[in-house]
Order: sequence, then C-alpha cells, then structure tokens
Amino acid sequence: MKSFIHLASACALLAVSVSASAQFAKPEDSIRYRQGSLFVMGQHFARIGAMANGRVPFDAKVAQENADIVAAMAKLPWAGFGPGTDKAAPTKAKAEIWSEQPKFKDASEKMMAETTKLAAAAKTGNLDALKAAFGATAGSCKACHDAYRAQ
Ligand code: HEC
Repeated sequence: MKSFIHLASACALLAVSVSASAQFAKPEDSIRYRQGSLFVMGQHFARIGAMANGRVPFDAKVAQENADIVAAMAKLPWAGFGPGTDKAAPTKAKAEIWSEQPKFKDASEKMMAETTKLAAAAKTGNLDALKAAFGATAGSCKACHDAYRAQ
C-alpha cells in the first residue's frame, strides 16, 4: 500500500510537470532537448561556415546536405523553452526569454527564415550565394544570443 501511494504521488507530480512543459516529461528534459538541438544545428552550421570562410574547400553537395539539416533543426529548439524551463537545469537561457516572449519568438522566426534561404542558396551550388546567406543567418543567431543567451 505504501509503495502504491508513492507511485500515485509520483504520477501526480509527473502530470503536473507534463502540463507545465507541454510535451516533455520534466523541465530538465526540455532544457536538454533545446540544448541538444541547438548543439546539433550549430555543428552543421559550422561546417558550412568553414566553407564560407575558406577554411575547408567548397563542396556544393556537402554544403547542401548541411544546410538542409540546419533548416530542419532550426525548427526544433523553441518547443524546449516552455514555461518553467528557465532554471530547472544548468542553462544559459536568460530570464528575458520568458518576460519578452513575442520578441524571442520574432528572433526565432527570423532565424528559421534565414536558414530556409541558406538551404535555397546551398542548392544553387554558388559559393558567393552561400557566403551571403551564411552571413545573414549568422547575424540572426548573434542577434538572439546577444539578447537572450548568457555568455
Ligand atoms: C531565438 C533565439 C536564438 C536563436 C535565433 C539562436 N539561438 Fe542559439 N541559443 C539560444 C539560447 C537561449 C541558448 C542557450 C540555451 C540553454 O542553455 O538552455 C542557445 C544556445 C546555443 C548553443 C549551445 C547549445 C549547447 O550545447 O548547450 C549553440 C551551439 C547555438 N545556440 C547555436 C546557434 C546557431 C548556430 C544559431 C543560428 C543558426 C542559433 N544558435 C540561433 C538562442 C538562440
């Protein structure tokens, strides 16, 4: 009986945190999810950057594959910034994300739009087009990081 009560209260707790952070079981999971998706996106974005900056030779096919991954990954992190996920685990997310939701959303939408353009530019196979789109996308990352990510 005692363990049943423990189980029941554990379930009740779980239900509370599920409703607090939509599709994630725990706020910590939201934080891991957003950091994980941003990390993966960042890795693929950096591979394009290496080509745009001439650190590695330009390979149109590789650029296109990476740009497609960036554009797909760019849609994911935002679900991980739900209510109650500001400090449940180590995070660089600033409190302003939750007090300035419309501005944060604008910044995420701007970045998603830029990554769509980046994928389109990569498809042209033109290095100059890729460089321009990479620069614009990087600007959209920086704008949000400056405002909403702790150093
Ligand atoms: C709308 C805001 C926003 C935009 C746009 C944005 N980021 Fe971030 N990024 C964040 C925040 C906030 C964090 C900190 C998340 C945390 O620690 O919980 C972060 C963290 C990261 C991290 C660290 C992930 C980790 O390992 O913990 C990387 C890498 C990253 N961003 C890359 C990028 C790149 C590349 C772009 C552009 C293509 C980008 N971000 C655009 C807000 C943004």
